[in-house]
Amino acid sequence: MLKTEAVDVERIRRDFPILKRTVHGKRLVYLDNAATTQKPQAVIDSLVDYYSRYNSNVHRSVHTLGEEATAAYEGARGKVARFVGARANETVFVRGTTEATNLVRFAWGEKQVKKGDLLLATRMEHHSNIVPWQLLAKSKGATLKFVGITPDGNLDMEELDRLLGESPKLLAFTHCSNVLGTINDVANVSRKAHKAGATTVVDGAQSVPHFPVDLSALDVDFYAFSGHKMLGPTGIGALIGRKALLEDMDPYEGGGEMIREVFDDHSTWNDVPYKFEAGTVNIADAIGLGAAVDYLTSIGMDKVREHEIRLLDYARETLSKVKGLHVYGPEDSKERSGLIAFNYADVHPHDLATILDEEGIAIRSGHHCAQPLMRCLNVSATSRASFHVYNSYDDIDALKQGIMKAGAIFKV
Ligand SMILES: Cc1ncc(COP(=O)(O)O)c(C=O)c1O
Repeated sequence: MLKTEAVDVERIRRDFPILKRTVHGKRLVYLDNAATTQKPQAVIDSLVDYYSRYNSNVHRSVHTLGEEATAAYEGARGKVARFVGARANETVFVRGTTEATNLVRFAWGEKQVKKGDLLLATRMEHHSNIVPWQLLAKSKGATLKFVGITPDGNLDMEELDRLLGESPKLLAFTHCSNVLGTINDVANVSRKAHKAGATTVVDGAQSVPHFPVDLSALDVDFYAFSGHKMLGPTGIGALIGRKALLEDMDPYEGGGEMIREVFDDHSTWNDVPYKFEAGTVNIADAIGLGAAVDYLTSIGMDKVREHEIRLLDYARETLSKVKGLHVYGPEDSKERSGLIAFNYADVHPHDLATILDEEGIAIRSGHHCAQPLMRCLNVSATSRASFHVYNSYDDIDALKQGIMKAGAIFKV
């Protein structure tokens, strides 16, 4: 296989200070990007710059620092919105994907979902797109049902159609599975859901960081993602919501900034998105997320995607030579994102991850916060190697060598 990279990996790697470190005396090979990504110097600098030059609260102070902080915070909102083809006034800053789905659960669900209603999720969801709906179903006396997956790791479209025929109130589904890598046809699924009268909540935690997403073409109601998985800081992410829905929703949390007026017995609400951003917001990390968006934009998301597809093809070919290694998810790299979940003979994923760590290689092992999916796959855990733009073919060679070492230890 021709090993040409779609981006200048050597140059990009120099932007990530952490990649210079060693682990157990070995070069760090970081393949746990689906859990969280590393941060380029530009993102780190943006945090230091905010705290050392214009740290101040936003939206409330007329002094220079307050105005600079507000401009940077709102500038970041604009960048994040444009990055995914959304409008700034439909973009709510939240802690991450988990807070986004919980916000929808409370602010939309408490008002809209009634006793006897049906809610749908899929069996390839992360727990953050399951548990909020379980809690909502329980508190409202509604029912939660699941759309299954096919043996090749795709959504079972026949089951989806059948369950949509039961007129659900909500369909919660992922754009991209954090285990199978499967990329769902969001526009098509959302269109079907809308025809059935359902509101859609889409988990973009593994899509926005890895390939171009244009929400203006996807026709979804709510879309959630996390900054830390897209080279940004932890503690910041976004919920994009349809303006009319956001306006109709009750607030999520009460406090400062989310109000227009407060009386003894009631309050009125600020405009969206501020209605959902109570208290002092995460100013520094929102600015850092804006810097991450600038960084990714300067590379180009189509290039990021192309790079990951090539790594994925190489990884699949390389790992296919390892006897006893089973990879989960769709065959075609164009239908999946840059991650590989696998099991290696009967070596426990935690043992494999520990042996790889001794070689400086970071992968994830476990259920990946997707236990219903683990049951579908008939396993309790898998190993997972996940890529981003600073990974190279060498990283995959190192992974294979590490796996072979584990094979020798466990006599596979
Ligand atoms: C598909 C998917 N959804 C949601 C999440 C939750 O993201 P966060 O922990 O940033 O809220 C993750 C994180 O692993 C994920 O992979």
